[in-house]
Amino acid sequence: MVSRVIPVDPFDLVIFGGTGDLARRKILPGLFRRFCAGQMPDDARIIGAARSDMDDAGYRDMVRKAIVEFAGKLACEDGTMNGFLDKLHYVPIDARGEAGWADLAKLVRGDVIRAYYFSVGPGLFGDLAERLTKHGLTDDTVRIVVEKPFGRDLASAKALNRDLAAHFDESQIYRIDHYLGKETVQNLMAVRFGNMLFEPLWNSQYIDHIQITVAETVGVGGRGGYYDKSGAMRDMVQNHLMQLLCLIAMEPPSKFDPDAVRDEKLKVIRALDPVDHHHIVRGQYGAGPDGADYRTDAENPRSFTESFIAMRLHISNWRWAGTPFYLRTGKRMKARSSEITVVFKDAPHSIFDAEAGRHRNMLSIQLQPNEGMTLDVTIKEPGPGGMRLVDVPLDMTFADALGPDAEEVPDAYERLIMDVIRGNQTLFMRGDEVEAAWAWTDPVIAEWEARNDVPKPYDPGSTGPDDALMLMHRDGRRWRDIRT
Ligand code: BG6
Repeated sequence: MVSRVIPVDPFDLVIFGGTGDLARRKILPGLFRRFCAGQMPDDARIIGAARSDMDDAGYRDMVRKAIVEFAGKLACEDGTMNGFLDKLHYVPIDARGEAGWADLAKLVRGDVIRAYYFSVGPGLFGDLAERLTKHGLTDDTVRIVVEKPFGRDLASAKALNRDLAAHFDESQIYRIDHYLGKETVQNLMAVRFGNMLFEPLWNSQYIDHIQITVAETVGVGGRGGYYDKSGAMRDMVQNHLMQLLCLIAMEPPSKFDPDAVRDEKLKVIRALDPVDHHHIVRGQYGAGPDGADYRTDAENPRSFTESFIAMRLHISNWRWAGTPFYLRTGKRMKARSSEITVVFKDAPHSIFDAEAGRHRNMLSIQLQPNEGMTLDVTIKEPGPGGMRLVDVPLDMTFADALGPDAEEVPDAYERLIMDVIRGNQTLFMRGDEVEAAWAWTDPVIAEWEARNDVPKPYDPGSTGPDDALMLMHRDGRRWRDIRT
């Protein structure tokens, strides 16, 4: 397959927090892979900025080690590492003081694309924005990249939006939700709006319900301090699962354009009904074979934070009235698997006798790992002995379907950073979207805080608390098995 990688225009990308965990694990290895793919122009520059006192050589050394550790399988020729490292510079900087800003101002060029990645805690967003402006490092062409958590409730998200809006226009702000950069997540739009097959059936007349599962095997060890103040609702549902829900449920945008897509997603969030607490199950993992339970991992023996959540949602609009959406996500579950399953209704009338059984079409979109789609179709069970029906999957694992020559799928961060440089905001959250998601999330959290809700324990390596199974069983439905 001929590579379709087109180099982006020359740029200076400044990474505030350039020595931090995210920079080392994701941002810099991602940039390296884009360099290897030939997407980076000769005069691109990446400038790390952080508190540590270091020079360019020290930074290059740190980045080299990060790449070796985190860049995974590379399509890079031997010796290209140095070509990438030559693009790196480093400036020690004080985000809350004046040290280092004059040096940064000398380094950053005014005649190329300028992007500033705030890979720091949200408490520093305002300080950075202010100093960038003060030191003449901005104009209306620069781009700002910010990470989640974007606030922990509506009030704090609004405050962050205000801090940024004081210095930048919304068209300059790129709020990352890395789920939007995943290949198969974008495929949701391709499948829905690139095919005639699905859209006519994509409504409550034909769809019984939709399930979204994001299951992880990792626990919260190592980041318990952050996680224990967030929980699955803030860490996963308000952002990643909400984005998946939007892409599955939104109306077709008139074009694949940033605001057309984001307008439609926003309408979904605004049409969400408040969730009744009877339709929510919160869970917390207990001790596994290694002896570690959530409270040990989170270093909080009295924690009531949820590491699992399952819920039933309704979207109040013409398309979805009557079709429930079941969402579930958790840590230390039986397998790492993110999947969306669309379960269609029974055929209105069966011409077969009762022995043929009850059958339903089901479209499952596997987001990770093993990206692909299966469509369960009912056929006659082969062989003599009358008409027996069986459901078989039309299986399209993308790696098989696209063959060994398919281009390697870029990691979410690679794609998103290149979109920043290209100036394409389609896969980034707009300020009003984030606020709408918090406006829906806040009352849910407030309700269980007011009731001192205690999460249900579940075994590590399981599918979550039994109550989550009951949530479905009560409605005469069941979760699709979590599989890899
Ligand atoms: C992050 C959450 O945003 O997403 C983590 O903070 C979670 O808790 C992670 O583990 C999941 O991302 P992925 O890409 O591994 O599914």
